[in-house]
Amino acid sequence: MDQRGSFTSRIGFILAAAGSAVGLGNIWKFPYETGQNGGAAFLLIYLALTFLFCYPVMVGEISIGRRVGLDAYGSYNKLGGKKWGFLGLYGILCGIMILSFYNVVAGWAFGYFLEISFSDLLTEENYGAFFGRYVVDFWDNLIFSLCFMFITAFIVVKGVQGGIERASKIMMPTLFVILIALIVYSLTLPNAMDGVRFYLLPDFSEITLETLYSGMGQAFFSLSLGMGALITYGSYVNKQQNILKSALTITFLDISVAFLAGLLIFPLVFSQGQSPEQGPALVFVVLPGIFQAMGPVLGKVVGGGFFLLLCFAALTSTISLLEVPVAYMVDQKKVPRKISVWILAALVFILGIPSMLSQGAVDIFSSLSFYNDKSALDFVSEVFSDISLPLGGCLMTIFISRRWNSKNMSEEIANGNPRYKGSFIESYINFTITYVCPVLLGLFSILIIIDKFFGLDKIL
Ligand code: PHE
Repeated sequence: MDQRGSFTSRIGFILAAAGSAVGLGNIWKFPYETGQNGGAAFLLIYLALTFLFCYPVMVGEISIGRRVGLDAYGSYNKLGGKKWGFLGLYGILCGIMILSFYNVVAGWAFGYFLEISFSDLLTEENYGAFFGRYVVDFWDNLIFSLCFMFITAFIVVKGVQGGIERASKIMMPTLFVILIALIVYSLTLPNAMDGVRFYLLPDFSEITLETLYSGMGQAFFSLSLGMGALITYGSYVNKQQNILKSALTITFLDISVAFLAGLLIFPLVFSQGQSPEQGPALVFVVLPGIFQAMGPVLGKVVGGGFFLLLCFAALTSTISLLEVPVAYMVDQKKVPRKISVWILAALVFILGIPSMLSQGAVDIFSSLSFYNDKSALDFVSEVFSDISLPLGGCLMTIFISRRWNSKNMSEEIANGNPRYKGSFIESYINFTITYVCPVLLGLFSILIIIDKFFGLDKIL
């Protein structure tokens, strides 16, 4: 049997890649980053960075994968020689580490689904306090993350068509529908318009260096860029597909879900008189309020449904995160898919234990002295996504322009898009990948490393 498989249709690939992109990054991380970074100004920066720089990076990643038809390591190795293979390994390491904390947050969402649907979460009076108690509970965290990892592994075992493609086709559209319905409802609440103003009317004085690189980190994370997830998915795409169009659709879908999530959360934040700056707890603290207001029966149905869909969105992302190292084991080490999946799932789960215990359960993980007393979860998420993904993007664009050659990339993109060569978009993509991305992403990566480890404000 073919251990690799491929997507059966254009829409299958788009939905799977969009499924990878759309996840906790859009619904959990994007609103709290926006809340912490000044609202509309952050949204604007995020959108601009996504279209101007991340879109070309996405096209580049998919082209590399489709050109070679191998995992991230194999792709770099084949196109650039052994030295560049390290970039693939770097991506695989990022994938494993991101998945280790992502799985913990996904476990919280799964726990909320169960607590709302089958227990009495909606009778709580203070959701901030509830969340605080909830994430400290070791056994809940352990069991829910274990369940999540198990379901992810189960789907990845089934391979590209049976598992990944089929799962994405059902989950994505349902998520859109429920989000829009909730937004309509939330906009009718008192003071909702203050939230809309915060989210949509930019105050340019809010834009700082931090807004810029946080926006870039968020865009990379949300679009699943910089670590080879889209190289791996690209390797399952056939030559007739138009990469430019597919990448544009994926970008639009991803941005739409993030945008809608913000449009749901901020009216709620303001109508409940909460602070938009409360960080990772934000959606878990704010959302139950809307479900409570719907009354016990409707609240349970809609609230449970929402968190279930959030789990689905997270699942299509965890699938892609796990697929990156799995493809490596299958392609490079010739380990059967099933065995690769279970070994890696177990490894990721174990690596996630410090993050699991970092919300107050165990002191040493909750406050890391070498990392400004932040939690292990913050450490893993900031180092392996906020810092490493833009850095990975920087190295990938250097690889394309200095090693693989943008002419070769153009040729690959022209498969399935004969009018690409000589077009304006070709010049734009080549220019951005050759000059702008290496410099800009390199600069942002340096800034963010300095900031996270030493504090930019202390130095500037
Ligand atoms: N893009 C996913 C999300 O927004 C997370 C992710 C990052 C997935 C990197 C794959 C690779 O939730």
